[in-house]
Amino acid sequence: MKKILVATEKPFAAVAVKGIKEVVEGAGYELCMLEKYSDKQQLLDAVADVDAVIIRSDKVDEDVLAAAKNLKIVVRAGAGYDNVDLAAATAHNVCVMNTPGQNANAVAELAFGMMVYACRNMYNGTSGTELKGKKLGIHAYGNVGRNVGRIAKGFGMDIYIYDCYTPQEIVDADGVKRVDTVEELYSTCDVVSIHIPATPETKHSIGAALVGSMPKPALLVNTARKEVINEPELLEVMAARPDIKYVTDVAPDALDEFAKFEGRFFATPKKMGAQTAEANVNAGIAAAKQIVDFFENGNERFRVNK
Ligand code: 3PG
Repeated sequence: MKKILVATEKPFAAVAVKGIKEVVEGAGYELCMLEKYSDKQQLLDAVADVDAVIIRSDKVDEDVLAAAKNLKIVVRAGAGYDNVDLAAATAHNVCVMNTPGQNANAVAELAFGMMVYACRNMYNGTSGTELKGKKLGIHAYGNVGRNVGRIAKGFGMDIYIYDCYTPQEIVDADGVKRVDTVEELYSTCDVVSIHIPATPETKHSIGAALVGSMPKPALLVNTARKEVINEPELLEVMAARPDIKYVTDVAPDALDEFAKFEGRFFATPKKMGAQTAEANVNAGIAAAKQIVDFFENGNERFRVNK
């Protein structure tokens, strides 16, 4: 009997686990759970005899892959897979998949929650600003970016996007304005919401030049990855420009330094963009179904490694 492990340091909602269990057991497989683990050794022990693993932001590196002798597939229940060593997975003959789009609305809603929070001065009771009529820059128009665009219409925002990969038909159908360069996005928009993945090309790519070019007052919202920010440069530009606010769902490495910008900086205590019952159900069940389809039919549609 195939063994499927759910390894989530940050657990899914119980309703999602129930759904995953139904899919896995419905296929005649066994479900094993490792939740809220605090030590890598617990993960190394748990993967020892499993055929598949469902993870979230949990790190799957060479050590984990080497310890998982029977492993055939890892599914990241979510979008970003920068937590998985893809080359090592390929070397171990392990298929890696993600579940694109399944948690996108949850992340987009949080981006707006954070935008309103920042515009209303972190709810400190002083007079703030509104989103209506402001220029919103969506930095990457994938599944999350498109949901941000959809919600922004309801707020009455003027929507700009920067994304080289989105087909023009989608841009036209959504009625958003595409700019040709990332520089133009930042120098045009009052609010920029970041939705790029962390890759060697994007890491530390958002710094003083981009954020410093934003009109005053500027608001930067990051529900993507901390690695895409050039933290020393952002600290520098925030020190030079008291109008800049930065709100993030991914606490920076230099948290203490950012926290000194009282009233202009906010970070969630733990990444929670995708932490809703709905997103957990969507992504968790999609992951379980992809595993069953992989074993039963050889379906590798959402494979992300070579
Ligand atoms: C993603 O890449 O899907 C999001 O960042 C959510 O990550 P999480 O599953 O760790 O909440």
